[in-house]
Amino acid sequence: MLVLGLETSCDETAAAVVADGVDVLSNVVASQYELHEEYGGVVPEIASRAHVERLLPVLRRAVSQAGVSLGDIGAVAVGHRPGLIGSLLVGVSAAKALAWSLGVPLVGVDHVHAHLDAGWLRVPAAGTSSRARAGASHDAALDPSAAFPALGLVISGGHTVLYRLDSRTELSRLGSTIDDAVGEAYDKAAMILGLGHPGGPRLDALAATGNDRAVSFPTSRLAPDSLDFSFSGLKTAMLYRVRGIPGQPVPAPLDDASRADLAASFQRAAIGVLMLKVERAIEHLAARGAPPRTLIIGGGVSANSRLRRDASTLAARRGLRLVVPPMSLCTDNAAMIAGLGHALLEQGRASTLALAAEPTTGV
Ligand code: KG4
Ligand code: ZN
Repeated sequence: MLVLGLETSCDETAAAVVADGVDVLSNVVASQYELHEEYGGVVPEIASRAHVERLLPVLRRAVSQAGVSLGDIGAVAVGHRPGLIGSLLVGVSAAKALAWSLGVPLVGVDHVHAHLDAGWLRVPAAGTSSRARAGASHDAALDPSAAFPALGLVISGGHTVLYRLDSRTELSRLGSTIDDAVGEAYDKAAMILGLGHPGGPRLDALAATGNDRAVSFPTSRLAPDSLDFSFSGLKTAMLYRVRGIPGQPVPAPLDDASRADLAASFQRAAIGVLMLKVERAIEHLAARGAPPRTLIIGGGVSANSRLRRDASTLAARRGLRLVVPPMSLCTDNAAMIAGLGHALLEQGRASTLALAAEPTTGV
């Protein structure tokens, strides 16, 4: 079955067509970055207006790039929470109208949960037509059947959360950030270093050229058994390093080498604490008789080079399978919405036309 996914929770207008909950036939994302740049953050009213203008062109492109027509669509999935309420309403209203007019099921999908599902999706190899790829036999490496129980980690601009997953669709929260999300800390650190937007990927690239032990940044472990996170101290430490501690002499302006060292040292601290909490969560689940078989990571920061490397080392050492999204599906997209929507529909969890947009996550 072909599921059309729509995603408008924040500042990306996205539509995608996914076959059988696995094969991504198209994945169109229109970023609104240029509209919000001068304000230094997403302006909700501007975001929702831009979604209204962009959703239909993005949707049409997703359907045509998939090589299908609207009549082939078997269900419509939409990210209905969490997010900016005005932005969510655009996608939810469009999805309802489309599902009703096509006479197909509608399914509401939690955006945070969907980030954890992106790792099961398969994107076409360059040069392969999406339809040819959809007909290919199932890739054993992507088979979720023996993957659970699993430990899930969502690391994005808005969320940093650990979950226990018992299937693609059943999960329970183990811990989350008590202040900033890790992606937010990356974006703020990048701003302090003068790297501009997009902060996370730029800091990641710069870190590759620096010495990660040049500066000792604090990491917040919280209580010895805590599975929560805190990133505000790390961000403040970067601020003090660059701009100086209030009341003390102002440090010399950064040169390129010290900027790279700060980026590398920040990255070591940020990813280090994520890995520490993953280890703790593995112990936590093992102590409760459910040692995880798989480590599933999703969200924008899962594109980070050090995160992918360190998670792969950790998973190998602990005998876990690692599932991370393809690079194109780490940040916000609608393919993950369609993929999880398919899994929910297989369990009969379609939504009604009363589906509401909700500002907070339900998982
Ligand atoms: O998942 P996402 O697109 O949006 C939310 O749901 O929040 O995540 C965006 C976040 C941003 O904070 C961005 O800086 C971060 O993911 N990000 C990265 C990298 N690529 C994206 N952070 C660190 N390293 C990267 N390579
Ligand atoms: Zn997201």
